[in-house]
Amino acid sequence: MTQGAADHRTTAGDREPILDPATLPRHVAIIMDGNGRWALQQGKPRIIGHQAGVQTVQEVVRCARELGLEAITLYAFSTENWRRPGPEVEGLMVLLQTYLKNHLDQMIQNQVRLRACGRIDLLPAKTRQILKDIISQTADNGGLILNLALSYGGRDELIRAVRKLADKIATGVLSPAEIDENSLAAELDSVGLPDPDLLIRTGGEARLSNFLPWQLSYSELYFTKTLWPDFGRSHFLAALADFQHRQRRFGKTGEQTMTRAKG
Ligand code: FPP
Repeated sequence: MTQGAADHRTTAGDREPILDPATLPRHVAIIMDGNGRWALQQGKPRIIGHQAGVQTVQEVVRCARELGLEAITLYAFSTENWRRPGPEVEGLMVLLQTYLKNHLDQMIQNQVRLRACGRIDLLPAKTRQILKDIISQTADNGGLILNLALSYGGRDELIRAVRKLADKIATGVLSPAEIDENSLAAELDSVGLPDPDLLIRTGGEARLSNFLPWQLSYSELYFTKTLWPDFGRSHFLAALADFQHRQRRFGKTGEQTMTRAKG
């Protein structure tokens, strides 16, 4: 785990790191933390921080698409976030709906495919409907997969997967001996997605907060103090450059692992 180098929004004059297209991560997962603190620092209500966070979402998604990444998963709302004050939860749902409605044309034009993970059934009916409509309208797009973690909890996802396996055993479709990594992964919301190669967390905390515990087992972790609304293209590129300097060993020795980053 290293602390990210770029902790302040860089100016337009800064030079961008040179990235090796061959060792870019296929899938980047992001914990977008620090919206509330960003707003409070400016004496504004927390929802203003979330609004500013949506701008960062746009910038990072555009950058991921331009770089040709396969998938990006954003932790937009956790199972624990339901405990926040009602107006903040409602505000976040409205922001999400607005973002989705405003970006549908762009997603279609840019071949972005929307996916979601988490307890979508718990979202307000309107948010759920918009989400489902856009997921189906973008289902055949072949570009970046934009995966939104909504009402998501990693332990909850694992429990739901284990229940599905138990059902299969109870009905004789599966035997206990057939439970392995593949059969369990097939019941997760992330089925079909490669595991994230890189996790970025903004906002200065160095923890996973119940985000993708199964899928992040071998991911490189990048923590930065930069608050999410201050994070932008240059910070995202810095995180990718940092990733390209990692040696991923997957339990092997450094000598056995000759390739970098994508190892
Ligand atoms: C954590 O910051 C952030 C969230 C709980 C919500 C993230 C949501 C967005 C960026 C906007 C909507 C998303 C999309 C995809 C359009 P925090 O509020 O916990 O920050 P704090 O730790 O400073 O209080």
